[in-house]
Amino acid sequence: YDYDLLVIGSANADLVIGVERRPGAGETVLGSDLAVHPGGKGANQAVAAARLGARTALLARVGDDGHGRLLLDSMRNAGVDTAGVLVGGAPTGVALITVDPSGDNSIVVSPGANGRLTPEDVRTASALLAASPVVSAQLEIPLETVEEIVRGLRPGTRFVLNPSPPRELPDEVLAACDPLIVNEHEARVVLGADAGATPSEWAEALLARGPRSVVVTLGEEGALVADASGVARVPSVKVDAVDTTGAGDAFTAALAWRLGTGESLTESAAYAARVGAVAVTREGAQASFPSAEEIASM
Ligand code: RIB
Ligand code: NA
Repeated sequence: YDYDLLVIGSANADLVIGVERRPGAGETVLGSDLAVHPGGKGANQAVAAARLGARTALLARVGDDGHGRLLLDSMRNAGVDTAGVLVGGAPTGVALITVDPSGDNSIVVSPGANGRLTPEDVRTASALLAASPVVSAQLEIPLETVEEIVRGLRPGTRFVLNPSPPRELPDEVLAACDPLIVNEHEARVVLGADAGATPSEWAEALLARGPRSVVVTLGEEGALVADASGVARVPSVKVDAVDTTGAGDAFTAALAWRLGTGESLTESAAYAARVGAVAVTREGAQASFPSAEEIASM
């Protein structure tokens, strides 16, 4: 394999303002100075994995504009192979983000060029799909494109999906996931009416929908990992949150990479929990992701 991980997904310019509290409808609040950070769930995953030392490629689409160049620079600086990043067709995706004093965020994404990453783009990149043992995706690109990824997987290629932002998923996509990685909100949306009451019920119910494995992330409560052998809990790492933006993406990328190295789901999730924990202690998404040395010294 040429790569340890292929990420297929979005790249956004994150326009971030710190707020004391979020405005309600019709209300105006004053916030901090604006920060513009490279983000997007796909680019975040790729940068997180590359910073940990994984040989990483990204298939994505950005606009032919300043935001697109900001993203390409951030990815190249982290060591991501950006040959699969297509340019043009629409402005680069933008995420409008408010971060409150507890480090929690609210995000509105304008997909822009991410919405133009087509099934045809995936077919054209079939060599890239064959060049990595693990392929990871999210849902800031069209669902038809994710369906095409699933159809294009080689036998033995591991597919990791974080369905964010969440929606109901076709059986064909669910069956390909190993694992499906969800937080509480995503679990409820994917499960729809049959969501159970507890995280282990969500994990069991999601597993029953077809994925070979499921990870439910629970923030400070850690994560649950579930597969045919049962459900196990992975503890969280206690940290003071500054900005949670992108921490889930770093968790997913780290987990996907470690799985590809042959680690178990539980071991990979424990490693990923440390990566996600460091990411919440620093501002921004990509700028907050740790190196492997930093994780080793925790
Ligand atoms: O998961 C965090 C990311 O969500 C941000 O970087 C923003 O771009 C949105 O895609
Ligand atoms: Na962060």
